[in-house]
Amino acid sequence: MILVTGASGKTGRAIIRALIAKGVTVRALVHRPDQVRATQDLGAQEIVVGDMRDQATMDQAARGVRAIYHICPNMHPDEVAIGQVVIAAVRAAGVERLVYHSVLHPQTEAMPHHWNKLRVEEKLFESGLPYTILQPATYMQNVLAYWNQIVEQGIYPVPYSVEARLSLVALEDVAEAAAIVLTESGHIGATYELAGPEPLSQAEVAATLSQRLGRPVRAQTVPHDEWERKARASGMNDYAVETLLQMFRYYDRFGLCGNPNVLTWLLHRPATTFAAFLARIPNP
Ligand SMILES: NC(=O)c1ccc[n+]([C@@H]2O[C@H](COP(=O)([O-])OP(=O)(O)OC[C@H]3O[C@@H](n4cnc5c(N)ncnc54)[C@H](OP(=O)(O)O)[C@@H]3O)[C@@H](O)[C@H]2O)c1
Repeated sequence: MILVTGASGKTGRAIIRALIAKGVTVRALVHRPDQVRATQDLGAQEIVVGDMRDQATMDQAARGVRAIYHICPNMHPDEVAIGQVVIAAVRAAGVERLVYHSVLHPQTEAMPHHWNKLRVEEKLFESGLPYTILQPATYMQNVLAYWNQIVEQGIYPVPYSVEARLSLVALEDVAEAAAIVLTESGHIGATYELAGPEPLSQAEVAATLSQRLGRPVRAQTVPHDEWERKARASGMNDYAVETLLQMFRYYDRFGLCGNPNVLTWLLHRPATTFAAFLARIPNP
């Protein structure tokens, strides 16, 4: 059995699907009781409900599993403390393998959520435990958050430069790679960057959307103050707002690009292109 934390989030759901497709038995740690049914529907055989910051919850979730895939909730200010809770649970339960869902370029101090992941990686190095670290690039799926505006107005809104380049990766590729490192031997002690095949500018993302939909789509920069007003009105917390603004400023200047070689090697096939990803999205 493999434990997946952060199981009811976007990443967790994809990882569970990939593990179930491989015939693996999954235990899922979800946050709230109302997330249980949907997680069972994905195929998870056992569910633990609770707060991953709580050592007793994590210890209970880790008991009897052979591996853990740890996904910290997005933009969580306690990522380092949560990492330590997971490491303690792995040690207490004698889990054979811990795979940590990090991020591409955690070395980037200007982005606090990346920097926190680097500090969790450091705790893993120091733990003496059998770990593997995956460092995914920005997901292609994030573009779908704007699907209605893209389809209805022909605008792809981004809170950074339309020239910023990102090596977008398909979340399904990341999940398939995760299932491989969780179920095959030879990955202990490894750190793998998982980047998509093309470092696309946002203008190029819009051009690919345009080809897919057969009508014009234009990338448009959303000013940071406008983005912040909407984010706060939607209830986003201070840490997430501040951290995302720092990420946008970083993307503005440097983008976030990597190389697909490692992902290609793990999957034994080329990584999914953005055009192929869009071809799988149902027609609007
Ligand atoms: N998005 C990307 O492009 C990208 C790229 C690379 C890496 N990543 C990393 O991937 C990770 C997962 O991102 P995601 O977008 O899949 O996450 P997500 O959708 O935010 O999912 C997080 C899940 O964890 C739950 N949760 C929140 N606080 C919790 C707690 N204290 N204890 C237990 N569960 C809790 C949430 O439940 P509630 O709904 O109840 O809060 C939610 O179901 C993040 O660490 C992110 O940095 C993301």
